[in-house]
Amino acid sequence: MDVERLPASAIELYEAAVGALEQSYSPYSHYPVGAAVRTASGRVFAGCNVENAAFPLGSCAEAGAIAAMALAGEREIVEVVTVTGGSEPGTPCGGCRQRLREFAGPTVPVHATTIDGQVLSSTIAGLLPHSFGPEHLS
Ligand code: THU
Repeated sequence: MDVERLPASAIELYEAAVGALEQSYSPYSHYPVGAAVRTASGRVFAGCNVENAAFPLGSCAEAGAIAAMALAGEREIVEVVTVTGGSEPGTPCGGCRQRLREFAGPTVPVHATTIDGQVLSSTIAGLLPHSFGPEHLS
């Protein structure tokens, strides 16, 4: 697996996610994470994990990217890239799978990567089968 196996559409997201990871505030876990999402309009939004001395208050990179996206008025995610420290890609945590699912349909690609270019590609449905989403409430 290497970064060259990311689809062309994901390269810009990877670069944005790496830039976000570089701003990670993770003095407790020493596990920096960056995330970037592309919306249906083509815009890219990134976020990093932000930890807290009161450990449960830390927030994930995906949550930061989604907050930036929502603030811009965007509501539809079409592609996701995460970048994690460590030697293997760390896929989005359970909570972030559901956070992404709110704005991304089952077929949306999610590429979990590392700084040195490892890639593990999946989809929202692959990460969160039979998921519960906003359409269930409509
Ligand atoms: N983390 C994320 O930012 N996203 C995930 O999906 C998994 C975990 C962060 C939270 C914490 O700052 C660090 O990684 C270690 O769990």
